[in-house]
Amino acid sequence: KKVVLAYSGGLDTSVILRWLQKAYHCEVVTFTADLGQGEELEPARKKAEMFGVKEIFVEDLRETFVKDFVFPMFRANTLYEGQYLLGTSIARPLIAQRQIEIAQQVGADAVAHGATGKGNDQVRFELAYYALKPDIKVIAPWREWDLTSRTKLLAFAEENQIPVTKDKRGEAPFSVDANLLHSSSEGKILEDPALAPDEIVFQRTVSPENAPDRATEITIDFKNGDPVALNGETLSPATLLTRLNALGRDNGIGRLDLVENRFVGMKSRGIYETPGGTILLAAHRSIESITLDREAMHLKDSLMPRYAEIIYNGFWFSPERRMLQALIDASQQSVEGRVRLKLYKGNVICVGRESPTSLYDTRVVTFEDDAGAYNQVDAQGFIRLNALRLRLGGQVGRKGGRL
Ligand code: ARG
Ligand code: SIN
Repeated sequence: KKVVLAYSGGLDTSVILRWLQKAYHCEVVTFTADLGQGEELEPARKKAEMFGVKEIFVEDLRETFVKDFVFPMFRANTLYEGQYLLGTSIARPLIAQRQIEIAQQVGADAVAHGATGKGNDQVRFELAYYALKPDIKVIAPWREWDLTSRTKLLAFAEENQIPVTKDKRGEAPFSVDANLLHSSSEGKILEDPALAPDEIVFQRTVSPENAPDRATEITIDFKNGDPVALNGETLSPATLLTRLNALGRDNGIGRLDLVENRFVGMKSRGIYETPGGTILLAAHRSIESITLDREAMHLKDSLMPRYAEIIYNGFWFSPERRMLQALIDASQQSVEGRVRLKLYKGNVICVGRESPTSLYDTRVVTFEDDAGAYNQVDAQGFIRLNALRLRLGGQVGRKGGRL
C-alpha cells in the first residue's frame, strides 16, 4: 500500500508523515509544491529522506498556479464575502491535481493531506481528489488520530525527533498558509476577534504607517483580461505577480483582518496579506471600466459572488465552475489596454486607463458642444416611459411606504 502525501515540510505534515508510516504501515510518497510560499524546498526533501521516504517529488508549480488558477479567477474580480481574495482556496485544487497525477504515476491507491477536520481545506482537497479520481482512498490524519490538540502534536514531534521551528519570539507559529498570491494566518491569539493582530503576524507587507510618504506610479498592460506587462515590460504570469507583490509590500498594500464563514458552518478569523492581488484587482476593474459593455459587466458582477463561493467551498473541478468560467472568459475578449496606478500607503489609486478597444466616447459624454453626437431630447421620452409605472402607481395612492 502506497500513499501520496501533500508534504510542506512543516511541523504538521512531518508529524503526519511519521504517523502514516507508524499507524498505517504504508509506504509514503511525498509531494512538495513550490507555489511561491517563499520557503526553501530542499529542507523538505532532506526531511523526507530522513524519514526514509524513497519517492520524493519536489516541483515548481508557480507559473501554472498563476496562469491557470489565479488569473482565471481574477478575470471575475473574485471576492468571497466582499473581501477575501481566496489565496488559499485557489491553490488547493492545483495541489490536489498534481497529487492525483503522482498517485497514478507511482501506483499509489491513496492520498493524504494535513488539513484539520474543522476547516475548508479538507473539503477543497478531497472534492478535487474525488472529481479527478473517483475511486481514490483519502487519508485525513487530523480526523483519525488521537493527537487532538497542538499540545499533543508537539509531544508526538518531540518523541519522534521532528524539529519544531519557532517564531521570532520562540513560540510555536500561527497556522499559516502561503503562496504567490497571499499568506494567511489563523489560530493562537487571533482566535479572539476582538483583539487587534500583533505586527509580528504580518510577513509580506510593511504597515501602511511605515510605507513611504511618496506614491509609486506604475502601469499594467492587459490582454484578454490578464495582466501581461508591468511598466511596459512583458513578464510571465508568476514573474509579474512576484513583482506586484514587491511593490505592494513596500507600499503597505493588501492587508485584511477578516471574520469569514467557513463551509463547514463556523466563523473563523484570519489575517490575510495579498499585496500583488490587491493591486491586480484594482487594475483589472479599471481596464474593464472602459472596455466592457455595461450589461456584460453587470451580468458577470452579479454572478461573481456565486463563483467566489464555488471556489471557496472547493468546487473548482465542478460543472458549475466550468460553466461560469466559460462565461467569464468570453467576457474578457476585448479587455485589453493599459492602466496607470498610484500605490500609496495601503491604497491603490487608478489615475489613468487607455485601450484600443475602449467603449469610452468623449464626443458623446462631453459637457462641451458635442456637435450632434448625442441628442438630449431623446432623454425626455426615455425618462417619461421609465416613469410610467411610477406615475400609474402614484395616481392610485401607492406612495410613501405602500407597495
Ligand atoms: N480561511 C482561509 C480559507 O479558508 C485560509 C485557510 C488557510 N489555511 C491554513 N492552514 N491556515 O481559504
Ligand atoms: C485547516 O483546518 O487545516 C485550516 C483552516 C481551513 O482549512 O479552513
